[in-house]
Amino acid sequence: MQTKKIMTQTPLRKHMLATLQGQGDQNHTPIWLMRQAGRYLPEYRALRAEAGSFLALCYNPAMAAEITLQPLKRFDLDAAILFSDILVIPHALGMGLDFVEGEGPVLPPLQNLADFDRLDIEGFEKKLASVYETLDILRGRLADDKTLIGFAGAPWTVACYMLQGHGGGSFEKARQMAAADPAAFSVFLQKLADVTAQYLCTQIRHGADTVQIFDSWAGLVPAEYFDDWVIAPAARIVRTIRSQFPDTPVIGFPRQAGGQYTRYARETGVAAIGLDQQADIAAIPDDICIQGNLAPEILLAGGDAMKQAVDDLMQKTAGRRFIFNLGHGVIKETPPEHVAALIGHVRAFKHTAKG
Ligand code: CP3
Repeated sequence: MQTKKIMTQTPLRKHMLATLQGQGDQNHTPIWLMRQAGRYLPEYRALRAEAGSFLALCYNPAMAAEITLQPLKRFDLDAAILFSDILVIPHALGMGLDFVEGEGPVLPPLQNLADFDRLDIEGFEKKLASVYETLDILRGRLADDKTLIGFAGAPWTVACYMLQGHGGGSFEKARQMAAADPAAFSVFLQKLADVTAQYLCTQIRHGADTVQIFDSWAGLVPAEYFDDWVIAPAARIVRTIRSQFPDTPVIGFPRQAGGQYTRYARETGVAAIGLDQQADIAAIPDDICIQGNLAPEILLAGGDAMKQAVDDLMQKTAGRRFIFNLGHGVIKETPPEHVAALIGHVRAFKHTAKG
């Protein structure tokens, strides 16, 4: 009896990876949350205090692996996302980087686009060895049915920080440098795309099942440059990954791309797009796999309003490939119980029969 029971069990599958590859299970909507590891979790804050600084955490493989797994110990998530930051690339290229309490990242900005060539292109992978070691640990510790997500920032978004030196505003100086010499800026982005593609390929070699490209500031790009600054660099990264890892899906997240989302999906070759909370799902053709869209404020608020919003989103995405997520990261004041309630509600959702 016992043997028979084991034999009839369906094999463990990575639900999120299957959805990305077009083999998802209609009865299991994969779910993960951007910034699912982080300051809203007390166990994160404890390890962060122990490490002393955010960057020290990112470069400590044992701690970074532990933090990656923290949300999966609490919640029934389908995926783990590598704990790191998009700014480790400029850091590994030799730029200074500091995370200032209450202010966010601070870097000594590049003064000219040509300064890219003075960065340490040869040494950068070696400096990221600890990130790859984190993935090695995760590959051994993650359950077989969980998808491991690697990531990097998109060239435009990372360039914003490299040229501006900090966030918190609208990157006026970076945007000015880009618009003053669009041809040189395209070359700058190409170089950054090549470094990023190499970084993501090495993440895949170390066990990432999929990788996400975060273009958080895509919404700042003028329409006439959207192709050159957002689509072309992402397409370049996807092409490189595909040539080495044809079965590894790439997720693109051009946040606040509005009416350009569909073209981004078609022209970059990504397997799925991440939608911010302003994006209109109905405007995205339903052969395109989508992820995201729930406003982080709704998760922060919790309660019946959250359950209603989950039901609405599940109805809107019925019958298409969809990965449940937020439109941006978990807000740090979010009570962890709201995350548990959100996931419970997604898991319990049953599509009402139509007709
Ligand atoms: O999603 C995850 O859980 C994985 C880890 C992750 C972090 N940052 C951890 C982090 C990921 C995927 C990122 C991406 C990232 N980093 C983006 C793109 C996504 C987005 O949020 O738009 C950007 C723009 C950054 C740059 C960055 N890192 C900023 C602007 C800040 C400061 C703002 C803030 O929320 O504090 C960070 C710091 C950061 N990255 C923290 C975490 C958990 C907080 C650090 C701390 O503990 O103080």
